[in-house]
Amino acid sequence: MVMDSARQDEVIAIASDHAGFALKILLCKEIEHKGFRVVDLGTDSQVSVDYPDIGDKLALYLLSGLARYGVILCGTGIGVSIAANRYAGIRAALCHDIETARLGRQHNDANVLALGARIIKQTVAKAIVHEFLCTDFEGKERHARRVAKLDETTQCNSRRLQHPEGQ
Ligand code: RB5
Repeated sequence: MVMDSARQDEVIAIASDHAGFALKILLCKEIEHKGFRVVDLGTDSQVSVDYPDIGDKLALYLLSGLARYGVILCGTGIGVSIAANRYAGIRAALCHDIETARLGRQHNDANVLALGARIIKQTVAKAIVHEFLCTDFEGKERHARRVAKLDETTQCNSRRLQHPEGQ
């Protein structure tokens, strides 16, 4: 099974905290320029906000089925990726270059691209976004099996926490 890369005209959700705000604005234009529709979930200024709220918002938007792919930004990309990855079904890849973006799609079927606005240059960010949105999941059996295991593990771990005596 090979999952498509993002189709032209499909919705790409994007969100950032204050540290990622300026780069988010630039990337919104870039993504629209490539023919995608962008839904900007905020934040709307450089006033300080908490990155867990940003990761939550984007994850819940994708899980509601309103978009297949998302882009999230904070200063390092670390906080928002940790937050988004707390949801089963979200696979946020923190990428610093084209290769991690490509492999995040090909091997991990990442559906969220996390970027560190204080870490990477704008030109690199644009190139990473392009690579992420235009690369297919390879769909090889071993990659599909591992991706499926991620959500199985999340559910299994919740059960383990609820029934620790069953270990
Ligand atoms: C905000 O100063 C910064 O901590 C945040 O953007 C992010 O880098 C956290 O992971």
